[in-house]
Amino acid sequence: MIMENKRPTWTSKYTFILAAIGSAVGLGNIWRFPYVMGKNGGAVFLLTFVFLVLTICFIPLLAELLFGKITKKECIGAFESVNPKFKVFGAMNPLNAVFIPSFYCVIGGWIVYYIFNSFTYLNKGDCGKYFTDFIQNPIAPCVCTVIFLFICTFFVVKGIKKGIEFANKIMMPLFTVILIFLVCTAISLPGATAGIEYMFKPDFSKFNTDMVFDALGQAFFTLSCGTGALLTYGSYVKEDDNIAKSAYTIVFSNIAFSLLAGLMIFPAVFSFNLEPDSGAGLAFVTLPKVFAQLPCGEFVSFAFFILLFCASVTSAVSMIEVPCATMVERYKMTRVKAGTILFFVISFFAVLATLSFGILGDFKLFNKTFFDFLDFTTSNVLLPLNSLILCIIAGWFLKIKGQTFIKNKILYNLFDIGLKYAVPIVLICLFIERLR
Ligand code: PFF
Repeated sequence: MIMENKRPTWTSKYTFILAAIGSAVGLGNIWRFPYVMGKNGGAVFLLTFVFLVLTICFIPLLAELLFGKITKKECIGAFESVNPKFKVFGAMNPLNAVFIPSFYCVIGGWIVYYIFNSFTYLNKGDCGKYFTDFIQNPIAPCVCTVIFLFICTFFVVKGIKKGIEFANKIMMPLFTVILIFLVCTAISLPGATAGIEYMFKPDFSKFNTDMVFDALGQAFFTLSCGTGALLTYGSYVKEDDNIAKSAYTIVFSNIAFSLLAGLMIFPAVFSFNLEPDSGAGLAFVTLPKVFAQLPCGEFVSFAFFILLFCASVTSAVSMIEVPCATMVERYKMTRVKAGTILFFVISFFAVLATLSFGILGDFKLFNKTFFDFLDFTTSNVLLPLNSLILCIIAGWFLKIKGQTFIKNKILYNLFDIGLKYAVPIVLICLFIERLR
C-alpha cells in the first residue's frame, strides 16, 4: 500500500502526451518508415499505413494505455491483477523491452558517431564505403552504442519527472524544429516535386499482401505497441486524464511525423536522382550523398543526426523504463541499481549486435546475424504476440466496460468489437505470415 502511494505520476496530461509521442516517434518514423515505404512503392504504402494506424492499430494502443491506467501497476503486476495466472504474459513485456533496445541502441550508436563526425566525414569520399568501414570496425561502433545507452539509462534512472519528462521536454521541441527546417530545405530543392509525387500519387499496381503486412508491422513498431512501454506510461497517468483523447493525439502526431519524415527524405533523394529504396542505408549512405552536394551540407548533416538522436533517445528511454519499473516496483530495487543492471545487460547484447556487422558477422542464429535475429524476433514475433495477448486479456478479462473512458457509444462499441475480435484475428494473420 505504501509503495502504491509512492508511485510517480506525470506532472500534467501534456507531459504524458509529450512522453508518449516521444516514445512513438523514433527511428521507426525517421529511419525505418522512409526505407520501408521506398521498398514498397511509395504512396500506396503510405495510404495503407495510415488506414491501418487509424483502424486496427489504434485499438491495441488505447487498450495498452488503459491497461496501465486502470491497474496502476508495472507490466507483471498489471497482468497479475487481472488474474494471477496471467503474470507470465506480463513478464514477456519487460523481457521484450530488454531485447528491443539491444538492437535499437546499435543504430543509436551509429547516430552518435555521425554526430561527432558530421563536420568531417563528407570530405572523406565514398559515403557507402565510409559507412561500411565504420560498422565493420570492432571498437568505434561499440563505444558509441554504449555511450548512447548510457545517456538513455541516465534519463531513466533520474525518474519520471526529472529524467523522462525532462528529456522529452528538451528533445521533442528540438526535434520538431529541426524536422521542419529540414523539410523546408528538402522541398525547396530543384526537382523536389518528383519526391512529393512519389509520396502522394499512389500506383495501385504495387498493392500486394506483403506490402500490407509490412505496413502493419511498421504501424505496430512505430506506435510502440507490444512492449509494455505504453502500459507503463499509462500507469503514471493521473486519475482525471482523458486517455482516449490522448490516444488520438498520439496517433495523429505519429502519422504527422511520419509524413514529415517522408517529406524531408524523398524530395531530397529524388532531387539528386538517387534511389529511394536503398534499405537501411538510406539515412547513413543515401542522405549523406545528398548532404555532400548541398551548400552548408555539413551543417545540414549535423542537424539531421541531432534530429535522429532526439527521436531515438526519447523512444529508447520508454523501452528501458519498462523493465526498470518492474525491477523498482516488484523487486524493490532503487532506480540506480535497476538502471545499472539494465545498462550492463543491454550493453552486453547491444555490443554483440553491433559486432554482428563486423567480426561476428559469421555467427548466425536461425540463419540470421545476431542483430537481425534480435530485430526479427522482437519486431516480428514478440511485438505482435504481446499485443495479441494484451488485446485478448484487456478485451475479455479486464473489465474496461465498466469504465467511462470512451464517452461516445458508437465509438465504444467499435473499440470493444475491435479489441475482442478484429484485432486478434488480424494479429494472428500477421503472426502466421511473419513466421512463414
Ligand atoms: N516507436 C519507436 C519508433 O518508432 O522508433 C520504437 C519503439 C519505442 C518500439 C518503444 C517499442 C517501444 F516500446
